[in-house]
Amino acid sequence: MKTIIEPFKIKSVEPIRFTTKEERVKILEDAGYNPFMIHADDVLIDLLTDSGTSAMSSDQWAGIMRGDESYAGAKSFYRFEAAVKKITSDEFIIPTHQGRASEKILFSILGGPGKYFASNTFFDTTRANIEFAGAEAVDLLCEVGKHPEQRAPFKGNMDIDALKAFIQKIGRENIPLVVLTVTNNSGGGQPVSMQNIREVKEVCKQNNIPLFLDACRFAENAYFIKKRENGYADKPILEICQEMFSYADGSTMSAKKDALVNIGGWLSLNDADLALKCRNLLIVTEGFPTYGGLAGRDLEAIAQGLEEIVDEHYLQYRIRSTEYLGEKILAAGVPIIEPPGGHAIYIDAKRFLPHVPAEQYPGQSIVCELYVEGGIRTVEIGSVMFGKNDKNGKFIPAMMELVRLAIPRRVYTQSHIDYVAEVVIDVFKRREKLKGYHITYEAPMLRHFTAKFKPV
Ligand code: F0G
Repeated sequence: MKTIIEPFKIKSVEPIRFTTKEERVKILEDAGYNPFMIHADDVLIDLLTDSGTSAMSSDQWAGIMRGDESYAGAKSFYRFEAAVKKITSDEFIIPTHQGRASEKILFSILGGPGKYFASNTFFDTTRANIEFAGAEAVDLLCEVGKHPEQRAPFKGNMDIDALKAFIQKIGRENIPLVVLTVTNNSGGGQPVSMQNIREVKEVCKQNNIPLFLDACRFAENAYFIKKRENGYADKPILEICQEMFSYADGSTMSAKKDALVNIGGWLSLNDADLALKCRNLLIVTEGFPTYGGLAGRDLEAIAQGLEEIVDEHYLQYRIRSTEYLGEKILAAGVPIIEPPGGHAIYIDAKRFLPHVPAEQYPGQSIVCELYVEGGIRTVEIGSVMFGKNDKNGKFIPAMMELVRLAIPRRVYTQSHIDYVAEVVIDVFKRREKLKGYHITYEAPMLRHFTAKFKPV
């Protein structure tokens, strides 16, 4: 087999700025040891997120020029609507400015006190929107998905028995919706199998509960199905995507991921009553139903991105380049969530820094060191993000201590990734010298964005 190459050539480039290690030590200190507070210009390779960071194609940029900016009934809306329908087959397609806007609309209508929503794992904005509306969000991830070091093809699957037990206990009338997040971002970018989607749908159908997809990375999920699930090897990606959506009654989507754009999203559904309510709320918070918080040009770029995302050469390159980084650092002994996920590599900070206790944030320590060593920006997904103190001030750690290296789509080449691996391995080799951190300032909510730290 020959090297899998980037399936594009580069027409427009953006320089990246080099800094010295001494400069980075100072920059990090000034940022309170929180990479969210670093100016992007001081970052060499930015792996903070794969959201909204994609490089658009020349056809997408052409779409930007073609965008019809009419307030109502823009041509660009109809192109967008057709592109989303082709994949989802849903009747009502509602554009939004990003994923959480769709979530806000959907869950403020369906949620409220006494309501429960279940998922394989809710992403934090989804959980926040459910809780903000007064309802409860419950994660029912399969057992193997909770063990970073165990390999399985579909670690994003929902636990079907747990779902049945949950419905029994809570009562179907109190569960307005079940959500499958594909791929499972918070659980390591791990895919959900078609069989699992089918089984979840079957349980939902028996109980008259609608099933929605949180579809952010639907094409990456479809590629994993093609490669790992019996019966899909010869199916085109588009057909696999269509089958995934065929079991769902609707979807929320952040187009900033698998629609290859910098802003955008949708809410798709088949229930006419619910669609009417959603559109009414959309008009108050986002905009008229044919633009929903976006410009006509954004709708064009999404429509074009949806054609490009189901290209198998693209997906092969995409999934392989993430796996390539995972394999390289694994071979040097760096502990990660296995197998590598679709959009990111997640370093297991608990095993990387066993001498740093959770209350000294081992993930944050690695994040800081990757920046100082190589100018690489990553994000802690552990006790900084999810840890808390109980009423008596006792520290409660997160379930896992992770560092996410999210790979922007079509942005970095293989040599960038080789460089990232070298930096990770360098830091790993002198891991005994790394120290923990403590928090010197934190906001009352979502503290990870603005917290300030000091080395222990
Ligand atoms: N659902 C999932 C699974 C996500 O990963 C995200 C965003 C959202 C919903 C919300 O979408 O940002 O457009 O409002 N994830 C980004 C990340 C922020 O870095 O993982 P949004």
